[in-house]
Formats: sequence, C-alpha cells, structure tokens
Amino acid sequence: MLFGDLSVKKHRLIIGGCDAVALAKQYGTPLYVFDAARCEKNARAYVDILKREYPDSTVCYASKAFSCIGIYNILKSLGLGADVVSGGELYTALKGGMDPPNIYFHGNNKTEREIKFAVESGVGCFVVDSERELELISDFADKPQNVLVRVNPGVEAHTHSFIQTATPDSKFGFSIADGSAREFILSVGNYKNIKFCGIACHIGSQIFEPQSFEIAIDKMTDFIVEFNKLGIRVERLDLGGGYGIHYIAEDKPLTPEDYMLNTVRYLKSAIERRKINPPKLIVEPGRSIVGEAGITLYTVGSVKNIKNVKTYAAVDGGMFENPRAMLYSARYSAVVADKADMPATDEYSIAGKCCESGDIIIDGIKLPKLSSGDILAVLSTGAYHYSMASNYNRNAVPPVVAVKNGKSAYMVKPQTYEDIARNDVIPVLSEEKQ
Ligand code: LLP
Repeated sequence: MLFGDLSVKKHRLIIGGCDAVALAKQYGTPLYVFDAARCEKNARAYVDILKREYPDSTVCYASKAFSCIGIYNILKSLGLGADVVSGGELYTALKGGMDPPNIYFHGNNKTEREIKFAVESGVGCFVVDSERELELISDFADKPQNVLVRVNPGVEAHTHSFIQTATPDSKFGFSIADGSAREFILSVGNYKNIKFCGIACHIGSQIFEPQSFEIAIDKMTDFIVEFNKLGIRVERLDLGGGYGIHYIAEDKPLTPEDYMLNTVRYLKSAIERRKINPPKLIVEPGRSIVGEAGITLYTVGSVKNIKNVKTYAAVDGGMFENPRAMLYSARYSAVVADKADMPATDEYSIAGKCCESGDIIIDGIKLPKLSSGDILAVLSTGAYHYSMASNYNRNAVPPVVAVKNGKSAYMVKPQTYEDIARNDVIPVLSEEKQ
C-alpha cells in the first residue's frame, strides 16, 4: 500500500513527479525526500475548512514535526502560523518569514534566554505552563504579553504512552480536575504586563478517534463556562494537534478535511449548547501536515540470512535518522523503489547501521527479493524524523530534498564530516602554556 501521493511508473517509485531511484543517485542516500505539493494540500485543507466553518481561527503548524526555513516559507504563504517550543524553533520560524504575531510559544520549561528572545521578537502568544514562566515573562516584558494557560483536560487518547499528554500524571499543563488550572488562571491578574487570553490543551499525538478530541472539547468548553461565571472572558481556545496518519496499512486515519470538519462542527455545537461567546480557535497540526509528504531513501548494503531465523537487509541509515522505530516501537511500510510493483516474496528485517542490536527500522516486512544496491523507500517519514535526528555514531544527518512537479532541490543541505566536528575543541585545562 502506498501512502501520500506516491505512484509507480515502469517499476519505479515516483514522488512529486520525480523518480525515487534517480533522486537517490543524484543526491545520495540516506535521503529524506519531501513532497511539497502534498504538504501544501494538507495545510490548505486545514486552512480552507476553518475559513469556511470557523473564520475566527489560526492554524499554527507544530514546528516540532519538521522545522527548517523552507517549511515555514511554504506554510506562511498559505496563511498558517507556527507553534514553537524552543528558541531554536522560534529563530528558524522567524528566518522562514513567519509573522511574529502568528507564533505561539509552547513548552513546559522555557528558559530565561528563550523567554527574553520571544518577548523581544514580539511573539503572538505565550502558552504558559508554570508560575515561574509567568514571573519571567512579566519581568522581561515592557508591554502586555498575550498569554494562554496550558491546561490538562484529563483525556486518555489511544496512542503510545510516551506521546499521550493529557493523562492525570502528565508533566504538561495545569489539571482541570484537581482545581490547579482554575487557581493558576485566577492568579494571572496579579502579574504586570500579562494579558490572559485563554486556554490551551493538547491531548496527544497520532490519534485516530474523533471521540478523544470531542471529549477534550467538552471539558475545555465546560471550563470556559466556569470562568464566564466568574466574569472572566476566554477569548482564545487552543486545541493543539494530534491528528494521526498512515504508517502501516492497518492505520485508519481521517483526512485533514475530515479531522477539521469534525472538530469545528463539534466545537460549534458545544459552544451553542453552553451559550458561550465563540472564542478564537487555534489548532496545531504537525504530523498530519508533513508526515505523509516525506519518505526516506536508503541503499541496501549487506543482506544476511541467519538460517531458520530471519534475513537482515541492512541500510545506510538507522536510529540516527529514524529514532522513532526504537523509541516508540513505531511501525513503518516500505517499498523497493526500483522494484516498486514486483510481488513481495521474501521476508526481511530492515536493520540500521548503528552499533546497537536494537537499531532495526522495520522488524519483519515482505518485499520483493532484495539485492545489495537496491533503493529502499520507507514511507511516512516527513514528521518527527529530520527533527529528531542526531549524529549518533557520528553519522551525518541526511539532507532533505523537496520535490514538486518533477523538479527537485535541497530544502536542507547535507551535513559534512567537517560540520559534524565543527564545534569540537580540545579543552585547555592546565595552567601551563601550550
Ligand atoms: N501542539 C502541542 C502543544 C504539542 O505538544 C504537539 C505535539 C502538537 C501540537 C503537534 O502534534 P501532532 O499534530 O504532530 O500530532 N515525537 C513523537 C510525537 C511527539 C508530539 C509532541 N507534541 C512521535 O514521533 O510520534
């Protein structure tokens, strides 16, 4: 099964009108390939549905899924803002041309340096997650700063426990259930240069069931009613992201259109039922905008059969460029890019090249017979791959090549060995002159 807008021509895998094998040859492997048109289509779907159904809204792309100058450049031209969670993401978003007022600054432990930078940059809103953060913003600000309070609505979404964010023991937000969210919001008025604008939640990631989002909407709108009774207006409601995508054939995600339609229609009815003023809506999809737009190309190296056990096909990538497989036992689909429509006859475990037994990208997949030199494409790698990559084993982070209408160009250039060692210095610790 092919996801995203992939197709096959003369046994070759095609992405964005480009032959994947030719891309591998031109740019080398491992290589992240990013289908810009597919990403635009996803982003536009969110923006268009909201424009039609809930105009007082902003789609803030969740940078953590994939942050580089090029992605902001694409998304701001479609009218999206950005959710950032670090000084580095904020810097990149600004470099990519994002309008500061459309930037929402999240994070459970923003540093002083980050808060100062965000105040100076004029970000649109801080999503505050602690009292200390509020104090710091108040100290650094010389004019009122918009603030949303991150609350934990206590929704258990059906996803990997590491990416659930609204369970009762979550490190994120103030709990609605135990009263701490209420108490914290009531204290916001004590700080100078802080303007309380509303509340934010995010219940987790890679969620398929609309019910999880509906429960969150009910809890958040109930909470708004509580504040309205105290005479406090909640002008903005940030519902976060979390919409799931295809990684394997069993995954049954909705389309971005359907996720958004379902969310806004449910929200509108929740607002009507409670007779509250419709707040400005912020949504923060990340994975569902970029995930299926990306694939990773590898060259198959050694193919090793362990008699009566399994056959490993080792590729030139691994946990340094795909940490998700190990971290979340994430499952993936793959296509042999030079044998894309050939029958899947043999079973392989796709191993990475890092010096760890656990560095397995796919543990068991049926593919056409592999030989060394084949180009393997792992699908749906546009989100949380480049952004989570490392230099483990001093492997270079692969470049990202954007494709569209048969054209290709770098979006992130390759790292060289010099880049990897660029900041290394031999520390001088003795008093003696060198
Ligand atoms: N908003 C907030 C406040 C978030 O914490 C997140 C993701 C998002 C939006 C975007 O969620 P998305 O639409 O991408 O699901 N590294 C993990 C995912 C961690 C997500 C963390 N927060 C993974 O690779 O599955």
